[in-house]
Amino acid sequence: MEFTMSKILPFYILSFLIVVSSSIEASDPSSSTTTSPSSAAAIISRFQQYLQINTAQPTPQYYEAIDFLLSQAKLLSLESQTIEFVPGKPLLLLKWPGSNPNLPAILLYSHTDVVPSEHNKWIHHPFSAHIDDNGNIYARGSQDMKCVGMQYLEAVRGLKASGYQPLRSIYLTFAPDEEIGGHDGAEKFAESEVFEKLNVGVVLDEGLASPDENYRAFYAERTPWWLIIKATGAPGHGAKLYDNTAMENLLKSIESIRRFRASQFDMIKAGLKVDGEVVSVNMAFLKAGTPSPTGFVMNLQPSEAEAGFDIRVPPTTDSESLEKRIAEEWAPASRNMTFRFKQKGSANDKFGNRMITKTDSSNPWWALLEDAIRNAGGKLGKPEIFPASTDARYFRRQGLPAIGFSPMANTPILLHDHNEFLNQDEYLKGIEIYESIIKAYASYMENIGENRESKDEL
Ligand SMILES: *[C@@H]1O[C@H](CO)[C@@H](O)[C@H](O)[C@H]1NC(C)=O
Ligand SMILES: [Zn+2]
Repeated sequence: MEFTMSKILPFYILSFLIVVSSSIEASDPSSSTTTSPSSAAAIISRFQQYLQINTAQPTPQYYEAIDFLLSQAKLLSLESQTIEFVPGKPLLLLKWPGSNPNLPAILLYSHTDVVPSEHNKWIHHPFSAHIDDNGNIYARGSQDMKCVGMQYLEAVRGLKASGYQPLRSIYLTFAPDEEIGGHDGAEKFAESEVFEKLNVGVVLDEGLASPDENYRAFYAERTPWWLIIKATGAPGHGAKLYDNTAMENLLKSIESIRRFRASQFDMIKAGLKVDGEVVSVNMAFLKAGTPSPTGFVMNLQPSEAEAGFDIRVPPTTDSESLEKRIAEEWAPASRNMTFRFKQKGSANDKFGNRMITKTDSSNPWWALLEDAIRNAGGKLGKPEIFPASTDARYFRRQGLPAIGFSPMANTPILLHDHNEFLNQDEYLKGIEIYESIIKAYASYMENIGENRESKDEL
């Protein structure tokens, strides 16, 4: 996808607000009542307000969400900027300036949109943010990922209230369109001059809920390869047995692909690997046959047959050998087959390195994250590869370390599912975790994550 600054510059809506901090207390209605803004009730109520804004694709109410977030940013005296790389798709950028602006900054990333939901299949309406007797908050976006966006803001509130002053600048981004690929949101943002000027050193983005007590953190993600294979063959009478029909040729490929799929799935079933570590292959469509007014012509063997597959490739996979397998076993020219990719992401960043955020001592952000979570009383499982796609890839593509993390332990994985919920105690615990992480990151002295030089060399 091509991207030029000249194309997007006219669409910028620049509204840099610097809000005077003396107005905070006076303008917050809850501070005059018995409920202080930092009480659990007030925190949960703000989360509910964000959840109640219908930002479901394909018609997300982005401006309502941005207005709400801006009102929160004002109360926290954060600098703010709303950018529209594409008209109608606002991205909100907030800043808490650090005392040493020369050090690379921290980016706390989240997206504002959510996936659609089938309202009548939910026990509580997906935009009601209803809290049941167990403290479970039901809403589309409660896990993916309005929780994280609001937790960042609440953690900032807590740190500010404690008198903390960051050394590094902290940016919060609320971006559009992640659920439809992020092309008009994170992708354009990560490639923009605005982003380059932020001098970001590390990015935090979303992770997944964890059914057990360990939080999950993700250092890479699988790349989608959307493969379409096509077979051709001589047409003929449906009663005749002959070799090399399009259907037969395609079925041989499907059998081969199914064996490969089973070999990958078996490794998961045997406990040798987890989702993100294998190549997944699922058939998305099967297209063949000669249409008739009542369905399909039954006594004719068609001359063409096609199938589409959603393949997800871990960054650790040897992609050349996988491509060879496709060309030689799944769609061999010798069987009159062709293939094409509807989409094929790269596993490399713009410097030609694998898009894998290091989890060893070469990446201090990883160790800082582990320590910060532990210090806040949380447990972290083994680092994982995210099984699907997130906007983190656009930042990794810029050569930046990006960690996927959503602090939701003891929580069923319900993103994109009916009855998505998050327990309020888990949500509150997550805020403490973020306070610990943000403090550790924004206080870190070493001049790491400096990417200016490498960019200038380009
Ligand atoms: C491939 O197509 C050619 C031309 O139609 C045909 O002669 C040949 O038998 C086909 N081979 C296979 C393996 O389908
Ligand atoms: Zn998400």
